[in-house]
Amino acid sequence: MAITIKSSSEVEKMRIAGRLAASVLDMITPHVAVGVTTEHLDQICHKFIVDELDAIPAPLNYHGFPKSICTSINNVVCHGIPSEKKLKKGDIINIDITVIKNGYHGDTSKMFIVGKANVKATRICKIAQECMYLGIDLVKPGTHLGEIGQVIGAHAHSQHCSVVRDYCGHGIGQGFHEEPQVLHYDNGKTKQSPILEPGMTFTIEPMINLGNYQVVTSRLDGWTVTTKDRSLSAQWEHTILVTETGHEILTLRAEESI
Ligand code: MF3
Ligand code: CO
Ligand code: CO
Repeated sequence: MAITIKSSSEVEKMRIAGRLAASVLDMITPHVAVGVTTEHLDQICHKFIVDELDAIPAPLNYHGFPKSICTSINNVVCHGIPSEKKLKKGDIINIDITVIKNGYHGDTSKMFIVGKANVKATRICKIAQECMYLGIDLVKPGTHLGEIGQVIGAHAHSQHCSVVRDYCGHGIGQGFHEEPQVLHYDNGKTKQSPILEPGMTFTIEPMINLGNYQVVTSRLDGWTVTTKDRSLSAQWEHTILVTETGHEILTLRAEESI
């Protein structure tokens, strides 16, 4: 399957799906607090997506994933499964929301610092967000897809952090994970990578580690991805549309001043 170019009516559906996904992060924000379980956050999001948004939580049953959102705490890189574990002061948590509305996907995530933030937590969350925005800034017709990974890798390394290589951003539309793969590091093949065109939609979702880039997947649940060296990891994600003149962030929230 090649990279799909969305028609203007498809773009309109992507805008709606993106806006709804963003609204879930806004809705859940006041609930992220010390003592709350990630299972509770999952239940609130599930109910909101189904009952209020009349949409589908894409993760639920996706390749057997058991919950409606992903909640990834501290050394968990991605695909954390909501559970009865309570949030503690100083935890960092990524909440990743994907909704399907009218057949189209919107995918977005952000970091929360629980209770009082510490220096390391603040730092990794900030660097990962900067990485995402630096990648987004490059999105316009004519850019090579690989340039996104180059700028993200350069920024992470300048801060002595590492970029997860085993997971990447992705095209998105009627499919949750479409072509192309959006690498967040430089694989040395930028010139051979696709050139961005208006109507492409994809995510940028760098996972940045304080320590080494290597990750392991839980042998117990088959999903939870952690840093091999147990260092903190942070991730932010937006769904982006390539426009004639640049880009549109389809999952932008009001709190983001760009
Ligand atoms: N939302 C994730 C992404 O950004 C994918 C989660 S897949 C799941 O691509 F099965 F873990 F939900
Ligand atoms: Co994604
Ligand atoms: Co996601």
